[in-house]
Amino acid sequence: MEKIIDENKQGEKLILDQKEGNQRKLFIESYGCQMNFSDSEIVASILSENGFNTTQNLEDADLVLVNTCSIRDKAEQTVRKRLEKYNAVKKINPNMKVGVLGCMAERLKSKFLEEEKIVDLVVGPDAYKDLPNLVAEVDEGRNAVNVILSKEETYGDIAPVRLNSNGVTAFVSITRGCDNMCTFCVVPFTRGRERSRDPQSIIEEINDLWSKGFKEVTLLGQNVDSYLWYGGGLKKDFSKASDLQKATAINFSQLLEMCAKAQPKMRFRFSTSNPQDMTLDVIETMAKHNNICNYIHLPVQSGSNRILQEMNRQHTREEYFEMIDNIKRLIPDCAISQDMISGFPTETEQDHQDTLSLMEYVKYDFGFMFAYSERPGTMAERKMEDDVPEDTKKRRLQEIINLQQQHSLYRTEQHLGKVEEVLIEKSSKKSDAHWSGRNSQNTVVVFPKEHYKVGDFVNVKITDCTTATLIGEAVGYSENN
Ligand code: SAH
Ligand code: F3S
Repeated sequence: MEKIIDENKQGEKLILDQKEGNQRKLFIESYGCQMNFSDSEIVASILSENGFNTTQNLEDADLVLVNTCSIRDKAEQTVRKRLEKYNAVKKINPNMKVGVLGCMAERLKSKFLEEEKIVDLVVGPDAYKDLPNLVAEVDEGRNAVNVILSKEETYGDIAPVRLNSNGVTAFVSITRGCDNMCTFCVVPFTRGRERSRDPQSIIEEINDLWSKGFKEVTLLGQNVDSYLWYGGGLKKDFSKASDLQKATAINFSQLLEMCAKAQPKMRFRFSTSNPQDMTLDVIETMAKHNNICNYIHLPVQSGSNRILQEMNRQHTREEYFEMIDNIKRLIPDCAISQDMISGFPTETEQDHQDTLSLMEYVKYDFGFMFAYSERPGTMAERKMEDDVPEDTKKRRLQEIINLQQQHSLYRTEQHLGKVEEVLIEKSSKKSDAHWSGRNSQNTVVVFPKEHYKVGDFVNVKITDCTTATLIGEAVGYSENN
């Protein structure tokens, strides 16, 4: 692989891995969750072994791949709009081929070919290793589809090509699929059953990233706390494993500890934690290792016990509070963020008030908040009526967002006057004279550049803040540097 420095549309410098001798050009873009961005790096790696280097220019592409999201209707509409853009480019570049990857590919399957004439290729999340064959079929003028979900595929053996990389932070996926069957969620249908990746291949990828200068890794999965390696296979088949397999199995807190010890100067984060699967030993492992960041994304979706049950979230509001209390007891400065859904079927004004009061209790550092969007094939779509009027959903969502804004400001204010370790990632969007990085709690910190550079761990004194950003001044390198 040869390193090429390029610039993206925002003018940020990017380091691209390109393979010498590759003649064809791949333009790949991703929508939705971090897992999609990570998967696109696997896809780019598979295709780099088959004649394709990536390009930042849609107009130059021989093959355009879009990694899609189905989580809400709006996410799907965004992709459809993007396909219109490809259509326009195809008029200038008629040989360009277009493929869809990810969750919409899995959900719509060959229907995609009928609905969107521009599409030549439909590939689900577990079928990326078949891409070279599928592209060959498309080259011969046929449309190609592979949406088979797998029991084993984790892509543990593929070294991802880093796309859009700042050379400092990277995602490493550790599980695929989800078994939780939250009634609103399409993911179990589009990403299949849950399986974990061989810890050895995870550690190898992390060591490789460190040797290339990366300083922070986020371990990714739909439900990371459910990680369980017992030699391969589905999580739900663990009960059928041999005694030896059971005795030597590795769970998430053990994996986290292995990572923290393998690279003691590297920072580790993880996402996403489902409260029902998060255990005390994960929090204890975080508390024990300085290089595991003090930040947990802990989606709750609703504060009402009745709605939590309708959503098939396997915990109560009280159990959630207990978990929050444990986190704050073991890691007092731990940041916590949420995902919330407003207007789930049957949600009453009282249920909504319960969500607001849960938020008051936790005072999240930040959050991702959505109006309920009915998804085809989910339990909620099949069994419940989408009966909360759109304007009620929107109004409740706004109330949730407003409260989160207040809490975000409250949380950022707690950092004022403190000196915090920041890993520098890039130039600040607003000012070329300032660096932008994040502290352990995942809050963005902006400060004057001075002599520091991207990838440095710097101690920054926090002097000012907004609801989302801390502003400060460097006081020197941190001891981690
Ligand atoms: N694995 C994660 C969630 C993945 S989906 C977890 O443990 O919760 C990311 C977020 O999208 C969810 O947390 C939820 O808040 C939101 N979401 C999922 N399905 C949705 C739907 N049908 N309508 C609105 N928001 C939804
Ligand atoms: Fe979706 Fe629930 Fe899994 S939100 S991704 S089914 S944990």
